[in-house]
Amino acid sequence: MAPDLSVSLGPVQLRHPVVCGSGEHLASEAGLRAAIDAGAAAAVAKSANETPAGRDQWTVRRWTLLSEDWRELPAGTLPRSASLMNRSGLAPTPWDEWLTIIARADARARERDAWVLASVVPGDERELPRLAAEVEQAGIRWLELNLSAPHAGEGVAGAIERPDSPERVSELTRSVRARCGLPLTVKLTAESADVVALARAARESGADSIAMTGRHLGFLPDLRTRRPVLGTFGAISGSWSLPLTLRWIAKSRLALGAELPIVGSNGARDGDDVARFLLAGASAVQLATVVFLEGWGAIRRIVDQLESYLVEAELDARDLIGDATDHVLAYAQVDLSPRPEAP
Ligand SMILES: Cc1cc2nc3c(=O)[nH]c(=O)nc-3n(C[C@H](O)[C@H](O)[C@H](O)COP(=O)(O)O)c2cc1C
Repeated sequence: MAPDLSVSLGPVQLRHPVVCGSGEHLASEAGLRAAIDAGAAAAVAKSANETPAGRDQWTVRRWTLLSEDWRELPAGTLPRSASLMNRSGLAPTPWDEWLTIIARADARARERDAWVLASVVPGDERELPRLAAEVEQAGIRWLELNLSAPHAGEGVAGAIERPDSPERVSELTRSVRARCGLPLTVKLTAESADVVALARAARESGADSIAMTGRHLGFLPDLRTRRPVLGTFGAISGSWSLPLTLRWIAKSRLALGAELPIVGSNGARDGDDVARFLLAGASAVQLATVVFLEGWGAIRRIVDQLESYLVEAELDARDLIGDATDHVLAYAQVDLSPRPEAP
């Protein structure tokens, strides 16, 4: 029998766990439609806020692919070991217009048993609650509060905020929750010494689910030019990001309980990686780099790979959630008795 791929994320039901994560590929109506048509259970629209400076930062976006020895790879190649380094800003479309586009894309997604989320990133904290209320008024069904933007410190002050403390995560989450009754996912940064504390703060302040994590900010000198790659700091991730992210997911599940709905992100490149995210405790996975570089076909490939894994394991998607984390040992519990010789 075919496995059941459906999963729940608190109030939201998804027909499978593969979500198209926010990024440049989801900064237009065509992109949002293409992600849903390609089979994503949900697609997170490019993050936005009210600030002109955040929108303007879109114009300096640039990306490059790096080999495992930190050299720039030619466009068109995507070895699994490649890292993506980039600069990014916010959706280039003015806020009101962007909301209208997302609402239309979400209404269309609904007919296909899928979702399109708005992603709001804090700019001016006094404006944030209004933005959240307007997402709901526009008829969009699901909101992500993006507290993970790695570029926040590199742009114009006041354009993008990325909080690192539980107190600030709590304040921003509460301010959004107070004005918006939609299912609320809060996306957290990887650049914190304690992502679990941030997850707890978001959850206790009204988040229905937690997305973890965004990417790191890096710095890489080019040996030939002796200048920084891209000329600036840049967000960076690769398949190496996966175990680092899975640790935060596993630790959050252990600290906050199996009831905490988690959306994983950072480092997934195929269906086996989605299964790894689920085994750590995520109920769904946002994939961005692989879609951005490989194209929309990556979504179907990854859903099919996940399904093949589940067929082989004779399990449904929900059976995987947290199964590895629930069997993790403390170092002191490791059994040191000699193993029997293999025959
Ligand atoms: C070019 C690019 C732009 C991105 N822009 C956003 C964004 O606007 N909002 C957001 O929440 N995440 C953004 N992300 C992060 C992705 O949604 C995702 O969480 C991250 O890239 C890790 O997943 P991955 O390893 O599948 O790429 C961006 C990622 C990339 C590569």
